[in-house]
Amino acid sequence: MTMKPSVLVARAVYPGVLERLRVHFDVDDNQADAPWDKSELARRLQGKAGAFLTTGERIDAQMLDANPQLRAVCNMAVGYNNIDVPACTARGVLVTNTPDVLTETTADFAFALMMAAARRIAESEHYLRAGRWTRWSYDMFTGSDVHGATLGILGMGRIGQAIARRGVHGFGMKLVYHNRSRLDAAIEAPLGARYLSKEAVFREADHLVIVLPYSAESHHAVGAAEIASMKPTATLTNVARGGIVDDAALAQALAECRIAAAALDVFEGEPQVHPGLLQVPNVVLTPHIASATVATRRAMADLAAENLIAALGEPRGVPPTPVNPEVLAAWGAVARP
Ligand code: DGY
Repeated sequence: MTMKPSVLVARAVYPGVLERLRVHFDVDDNQADAPWDKSELARRLQGKAGAFLTTGERIDAQMLDANPQLRAVCNMAVGYNNIDVPACTARGVLVTNTPDVLTETTADFAFALMMAAARRIAESEHYLRAGRWTRWSYDMFTGSDVHGATLGILGMGRIGQAIARRGVHGFGMKLVYHNRSRLDAAIEAPLGARYLSKEAVFREADHLVIVLPYSAESHHAVGAAEIASMKPTATLTNVARGGIVDDAALAQALAECRIAAAALDVFEGEPQVHPGLLQVPNVVLTPHIASATVATRRAMADLAAENLIAALGEPRGVPPTPVNPEVLAAWGAVARP
């Protein structure tokens, strides 16, 4: 009888997903969901051919060198800034993520956050719950319209485009965007999208949504200067990654009402949140839940498992969503590396 490969599931996951993995692998799990530091992660990875990860586990060159037997790291997330992909590729380690299955769900949430900021929903709810609502008044919690306003999007990948569709087709918004590369006319035209410089998007947006991938280049892409260039009535929403927005600069700008409001699902150093953000009323704060619907989280977990099974299980398959497919080509796609 051949031994099953060993894999690590670094965080708690749906029991059904774990069962599925156990058919193919000898699984070391963390159903207690205890937080592991770097050295504990390195220890638990010892002897593992693969890992099922979330964005909280960092896989860098040092972690890879400490675990040279590792062949595949499968993120249960579309973002993979927790993984040093070039270091993986150089060592023949496959990286996979979970695109597409979360696109519409994440776009729904981004839109909800943007609307909550524009219409002051969280702020007014806190006011009501605190027992401070004593009478109606004509200017109580007046916000800004979403319908017909200019939606600015930084990062027009799948999720950015899904947010754009909601804004343009659902709310009659005008769309301006910036992206590393301009979209094809066939995508721009039905959205009436205008491709502008990053600076111009900051200036023109009534409601700006950040959907950039995190990288060294996008670190603090939204800082004090960028926020200062926005309209004083504008809102800023970040559903991408902490670190793209300079949270300290944003907290100060909100405290000084340099923009009207913000909505953040991701934070620099999360789960810590900059104390300045906790003190200002004009920001909606959620704990990194943009993809958190029952159906979508299950779909993400299933896709991460499918990637791991295809990469290392028997019979070998082609992982559906590789980040560095060149590794698969080097493996011979379906042959054991
Ligand atoms: C993602 O999929 O990247 C989400 O942010 C969840 O971590």
